[in-house]
Amino acid sequence: MNAPIRAEHVEPPHNVAHALTVRNLSLSFGGNQVLHDIGLQLEPGEITGLIGPNGAGKTSFFNCLTGLYMPQRGEICLGSENLIWLAPTQRAALGFSRSFQHVALCPELTVAENVMVGLDRQSNAGWLDAFLPLAGGRKERGRNRELAVNALERLGIADVAKSYPSDLPPGVLRLAEIARAIAGSPRVLLLDEPAAGLNSVETRDLANALKKLRAPDLVLVVVEHDMDLIMDVCDTIHVLNVGRLLASGSPGQIQANPEVVRVYLGDDDA
Ligand SMILES: Nc1ncnc2c1ncn2[C@@H]1O[C@H](COP(=O)(O)OP(=O)(O)OP(=O)(O)O)[C@@H](O)[C@H]1O
Ligand SMILES: [Mg+2]
Repeated sequence: MNAPIRAEHVEPPHNVAHALTVRNLSLSFGGNQVLHDIGLQLEPGEITGLIGPNGAGKTSFFNCLTGLYMPQRGEICLGSENLIWLAPTQRAALGFSRSFQHVALCPELTVAENVMVGLDRQSNAGWLDAFLPLAGGRKERGRNRELAVNALERLGIADVAKSYPSDLPPGVLRLAEIARAIAGSPRVLLLDEPAAGLNSVETRDLANALKKLRAPDLVLVVVEHDMDLIMDVCDTIHVLNVGRLLASGSPGQIQANPEVVRVYLGDDDA
């Protein structure tokens, strides 16, 4: 096992492309083993799909990557560094970012302010600045606002920066969540069911937005049940079934895999 990175060695992301390699990852809750000895490599520059039936362990796998769940066994390496002992905040500082399965925007904040929440947490201007606004804090807030607007522009929704979530349709809210996840320029971006609750037009817009996020130094992983979206945007797909890695391959290979068709994709003739 590689030596874990110590907290004082955590540095902000720099522009070096690293694969995220997972080895022998096992996770249990009491007697319920949720992940069994998962090993896979997530490549920068690609969009990777993670699919499988309900309860397969996809969200749990994301929770292990971000440090929310502590697996009983295994390694999670960014490049050659094993991150397994790092806390979620330390992994965020290294460039891990995610969106959640259920829309999680704060209704009292505008879209731009929601996007800034993650940036404010990373910045030096913390809660003290909210009570005692200092010049340095104001400057940092201005910069965060700029980063937030840039992220909204990348997703084509800068026009809703000042709107409140309750005034917006689900497709725009999902894009706003992704904007929040990309605003800090992550090197690992994990999206959990971004198309959940979207209609077909919104899903098509989302697919186009995801394709534009592909970048040489970004590991981008999408968990999704919408197979048209997955097959359209992904370069590589991994299939989980009851906590085990069932298959990995290109969209064509996955669609042609009889075991994947049997347990998840289904047979058109059936
Ligand atoms: N905090 C937890 N405590 C106990 N069991 C958990 C916990 N989190 C997940 N599980 C269990 O892990 C298994 C996998 O759940 P998970 O949410 O990872 O599946 P999923 O593949 O994301 O499913 P879905 O497609 O429905 O979102 C389930 O049996 C679930 O009950
Ligand atoms: Mg899930």
